[in-house]
Amino acid sequence: MINIPKGTKDVLPELSYKWRFIENAARETAEIFNINEVRTPVFEHTELFLRGVGETTDVVNKEMYTFEDKGGRSITLKPEGTAGVVRMFIENGLASTPMPLKTFYITPCFRYERPQAGRLREFHQFGVEVFGAKSAETDAEIIFAASTFLNKLGVSKTELQINSIGCRICRAEYNKALKDYFRLHLEKMCATCRARFDKNPLRMLDCKEEDCKKITANAPKILDYLCGDCKTHFEKVKRLLTAQGVKYVVNPRIVRGLDYYTKTVFEFISTDIGAQGAVCAGGRYDNLVEELGGAALPAIGFAAGIERLLLLMENTGASFPAAQKPLIYVAGMDDITRAKAFEIVAELRLNGINAEADLMERSVKAQLKYADKSGAHYVAVIGGNELAANTVNIKNMADGTQTAVNLNEIYSYLKKEKK
Ligand code: HAM
Repeated sequence: MINIPKGTKDVLPELSYKWRFIENAARETAEIFNINEVRTPVFEHTELFLRGVGETTDVVNKEMYTFEDKGGRSITLKPEGTAGVVRMFIENGLASTPMPLKTFYITPCFRYERPQAGRLREFHQFGVEVFGAKSAETDAEIIFAASTFLNKLGVSKTELQINSIGCRICRAEYNKALKDYFRLHLEKMCATCRARFDKNPLRMLDCKEEDCKKITANAPKILDYLCGDCKTHFEKVKRLLTAQGVKYVVNPRIVRGLDYYTKTVFEFISTDIGAQGAVCAGGRYDNLVEELGGAALPAIGFAAGIERLLLLMENTGASFPAAQKPLIYVAGMDDITRAKAFEIVAELRLNGINAEADLMERSVKAQLKYADKSGAHYVAVIGGNELAANTVNIKNMADGTQTAVNLNEIYSYLKKEKK
């Protein structure tokens, strides 16, 4: 037998309704916030992620699924959704459309990480990217959209942590302060941190090594280095969040694992799913469009991991709507009545009813057993007598009551019952 690759998961038929519930909540949220869906390829030219996500990030350094295609091009399976949408935005000249442009996607992503609870090699993101608006209102709206989505799922026990990591101007000052600090501790830090020291000291704050974490705990904080504009922006975002009733805590240690962020960054963290607690995360990335060859346009977005949300919902006993079940199973006794059952079911389906009849050439007893297992709400058995009388008893499986219904009126009966 060939097994599923490590770090990937099948969605089995009896569980797909949970996925659909989450995806529907994502689409409903997008609709309320007037965000349109976009779809970009699962793979892109590797260079997009090198330049977009950043060469000093773990995602690019260690986790990308990169291969050469038969034409000798370096291709990478998308490790995240933002870079592809930015590429699409630039390539299609979307900067000339009315701003802001609000987009969302539901996409598989691929990262070669060590699999554990909530951490997979193929996972799925619901992401939102908004282009062209630099106002603090945009940040607040995007965070509110993420929080609305989580609320729709009944995921209330997450903590929203926010931070500002400044713009090019304040980052230059801050990088200098970080270097001055880390220079004193460099020989005690890991090889990755030492390599990041010259290229991107901010990234050292993201190190997961215990020794490095102890050192970074006392490193200068970005919030003390924000320029006037970034400080005003962050204060306004906080005020607007409070006005919208969105609770948050400021965590000056959030730097995010991707290099494109500027100003506001945020993470919705859960303590109910183990070490991988971020269920939804994002931030502003005001330089990325320009850095990838587009106009100098601000942008902001977030992405939520669907598998992590599923895990969180399951671990906290969040309720899912009921799985899909047939409203009625219509059984037949012999060839003639089976044909009638098939005809009735076809008619019901044309009327939008989830109805089932036998496809397995089973006995009536076996059909009823299957109907019971399928969770059908009603069951009808058509025999010779029923056909002759043009009437069938429809059994309500929840309470066992039976109602005689004319064979031509099953649809109107079910419609009344459904109400
Ligand atoms: P990210 O924090 O790398 O950000 O990922 C966003 C979310 O994807 C995480 O909070 C988590 O729920 C989920 N996720 C990430 N890696 C894995 C994994 N290996 N297994 C399962 N779930 C995972 C981004 O990807 C940015 N593109 C978000 C963004 C959009 N920022 C601005 N716009």
